[in-house]
Amino acid sequence: MSAVVTHHAQLANAWTIVRLSLHVLGACVWVGGQLVLAGLVVTLRGISHDAPGKVARAFARFTWPAYGLLIATGVWNVAAMGSSATSSWNMVFGIKMFCVIVAGLGAFLHTRAASPKAKGVFAGVGMIGTLAALVLGVALTG
Ligand code: HEM
Repeated sequence: MSAVVTHHAQLANAWTIVRLSLHVLGACVWVGGQLVLAGLVVTLRGISHDAPGKVARAFARFTWPAYGLLIATGVWNVAAMGSSATSSWNMVFGIKMFCVIVAGLGAFLHTRAASPKAKGVFAGVGMIGTLAALVLGVALTG
C-alpha cells in the first residue's frame, strides 16, 4: 500500500525568478541563436557567398555575451544550491560542465577553422555539447 502524497505547487521566490530567468534567457540566445543561424545558412549563401560569414560574425556579438551570462548565472545557481546535493546530482553537474566546455570550445574552433570540413565538425561537436548541457541543466533542477 502506498501513501497518498499531496504536492502543493509553490511559487519561486523573487531572487530565484531573477536567477533562473537570466540563466534561461542566456540558454535561449546561445542555443536558439545557433539553431536559427544553422537553419539560415543555405538561404544566406543563396543571397551572397559571404553572407553566412557576415551574419555569423554579427551573431557572435549576441551569442558570446549569452555564453558569459550562462556561466555567471550558472555560478549563481550553484551558490544558491547550498551543500545538500546527492552524489548523482554532483555527477550530472560534472558531466554538464564538461558539455559546457565542449559547447564553447566547439563554437570557438568553428569560428577559427579554415576548411569547410573542420568548420562542420566543430559546429557539430559544439552543438551536441550545447544540447546536452541544456538537457542536463533541466535534470539539475529536480
Ligand atoms: C551552454 C551553457 C549552459 C546551458 C545551455 C545551460 C542550460 C540550463 C537549463 C536549460 C537549465 C534549467 C533551468 C530551469 O529549468 O529552470 C539549467 C539549470 C542549471 N544550470 Fe545551466 N546551462 C549552462 C551553463 C551552466 C554553467 C556554466 C553552470 C555552472 C557554473 C550551470 C549550472 C546550472 C545549475 C546549478 C542549474 C540548476 C538551477 C536550479 O535548479 O536552481 N549551467 N541550465
